[in-house]
Amino acid sequence: MIKKIGILNGGGDVQPLNAVISSIVKSGVHRGFEFIGFEKGWEGVLSPMLYRPLDLKSVRGISHVGGTILGTVNKGRFTSKVGAGETNNIPDEILNEAKSNLDKIGVEALIVIGGDGTLGGALQLAQKGVNIIGVPKTIDNDLKSTDKTFGFSTAVDIATEALDRIHTTATSHDRVIFVEVMGRHAGWIALNSGLAGGADMILLPEIPFDYQKIIEFLRKRKETGYRSSVVVVSEGAAAKQGLVTTMGGGDLQEVKLGGISNTIIATIDKMAPGEFELRNTILGHVQRGGSPNAEDRILAKQYGVAAVDAIEKGEFGMMVSLRGDHIVTVPIADAVDQLKLVTLDAIAVDTAKKIGVFFGD
Ligand code: F6P
Repeated sequence: MIKKIGILNGGGDVQPLNAVISSIVKSGVHRGFEFIGFEKGWEGVLSPMLYRPLDLKSVRGISHVGGTILGTVNKGRFTSKVGAGETNNIPDEILNEAKSNLDKIGVEALIVIGGDGTLGGALQLAQKGVNIIGVPKTIDNDLKSTDKTFGFSTAVDIATEALDRIHTTATSHDRVIFVEVMGRHAGWIALNSGLAGGADMILLPEIPFDYQKIIEFLRKRKETGYRSSVVVVSEGAAAKQGLVTTMGGGDLQEVKLGGISNTIIATIDKMAPGEFELRNTILGHVQRGGSPNAEDRILAKQYGVAAVDAIEKGEFGMMVSLRGDHIVTVPIADAVDQLKLVTLDAIAVDTAKKIGVFFGD
């Protein structure tokens, strides 16, 4: 019978991490489990280990607070994804060190909260015989095998509020304003916030855009009396035959995206000099900060309880997942083998197109 459980969150933070940590501890303590929280993601499991006991007192009053009480990193010795998300084999000595460190302090099962990078590492450790349950987390919502990851809904709310604000100033000044949102290689945040926030154009990584068509669309809007336009751009979007705009990374970490909206406004200005008054806003990490919304808190709490249920049932190597109204378990291996991207038949794409939103092509 398992008694001592480790909790680890890795990768970029999301707003409801503390809600899931608190839910795991609260539901597990009552069932007789003890918890250890590893700090700074996988680094905390490697030597010198960074961890602390988590009891009911240590998780009191944290569910609505953003960030994570355990801290996190999205780089380091345990990196399982590099470049543009290619799988990296973690060296055997690192996996063995993690396993023996867990044994040394008597951790018999590990709940790993993360996106495809962190869970990719979890999968490699599980293959060494460590008892692991995964919990899906990322604002990007790009994890396969689950309807939703927690953090996504709050990020969409934040981006939507930003769009509402951008609309009023764009209208006052007759400007075309681009709002760049996160999401890596998946356009879910751009698509959902663009639809909710009334964007006139949405540019996604999944639909390479054509500069000439964008200019024609903006011209037509002007001709028909719309003096301002608001465009949501996903950070991973790229022009046809264009390159994805990056800010570095790659060497034992994933490529950092960001800045495509700078390139877009410079290119439009060059192709249609002085025709549009262009501005851009890059939302950046504000999308990951602050308090989680109600939907994300609820999902995080459901995942936390389900992770402890899965430990009781001995469902190791599995990840808790939302399917419709149910939380189920699915193999971690299936969740991390490829990203969940926006498809052209997605209901939000269809809806947006039918109300006149342009996708850049
Ligand atoms: O994966 C989550 C995410 O916020 C992406 O949307 C974004 O590209 C990346 O992390 C930013 O990473 P960092 O916090 O290292 O700048």
